[in-house]
Amino acid sequence: MRVVRTISELEDAIKALRREGQKVAFVPTMGALHAGHLSLVEIARELAEIVVVSIFVNPTQFAPGEDFERYPRQEEADLAKLEGHVEIVWLPGVEDIYPDGAVRTVTAPGNVQVLCGASREGHFDGVATVVKRLLEVVQPDMAIFGEKDYQQLHMIRELVKTHALPVKIVHAPIVREEDGLAMSSRNRYLSDDARKKAPLVFTVLRQIAQAVYQGETRLGTLLDDARNRLDKAGFVLEYLELRDAETLASVSSPLHAPARIFIAVYLGNTRLIDNIEIWNTI
Ligand code: PAJ
Repeated sequence: MRVVRTISELEDAIKALRREGQKVAFVPTMGALHAGHLSLVEIARELAEIVVVSIFVNPTQFAPGEDFERYPRQEEADLAKLEGHVEIVWLPGVEDIYPDGAVRTVTAPGNVQVLCGASREGHFDGVATVVKRLLEVVQPDMAIFGEKDYQQLHMIRELVKTHALPVKIVHAPIVREEDGLAMSSRNRYLSDDARKKAPLVFTVLRQIAQAVYQGETRLGTLLDDARNRLDKAGFVLEYLELRDAETLASVSSPLHAPARIFIAVYLGNTRLIDNIEIWNTI
């Protein structure tokens, strides 16, 4: 495993490894790696001879007042998790990604005003800006993103189309803790008590999905029940919505397909997001 920092080191490492006809798969991350990230690496491994992982806590995707400063940084532990599984780890500095401090913001395409975009000012523009830059530097054949951040995945698909970037976007299912909580680098912010409550987010999503599968069509009732349960348990709901899985347009019937339920809640100061596919029986 080669650990590189500057762009020229990265380019040299790829050049040295890549043989004629071999493919490069890329997994961008912000580090504090967990099994969710490693599942993306596994998928990359199956798709390409050369796997590149980047670790960069991107300042431009954090809104003022968000957790940029306290976001977990644990380079050594991350490298230990990747050792033996990837060919190249790229740890760029801010100056490699935003040379001379110049940030030419890329406007995030797709349906980014809704869901997380409604509350996280500038977040998706920051993600679009860094992902476009990372893809242009690494020039992978494919890049892997998790469905955990489903709206991000939607935006990146649109980004690749809008800018005609020559890369295939691969999506990976959500990896969960045993009790159902979607893995996230931010779960470590949860107090012991909050951590015990947190799986309720997935429990209510799963209940909605199961009820629809069993023929329930009254969306309002389903969402209200879920809201009440979360409210009683001390969660502060930011959104709980049914949307088209491709366009993220709002839909009013669970019979719509393909559809997903999206949720964001606060538990204390920690914001949790999750989503689930809805299968209807039609
Ligand atoms: P980060 O939160 O570190 O996530 C990196 C990748 O791992 C993303 O594609 C994310 O969706 C995926 N991921 C996180 N938790 C997951 C889980 N439980 N199951 C499956 N996949 C999971 O997302 C970012 O970083 C950044 O916005 C980034 C794309 C790197 C741009 O800065």
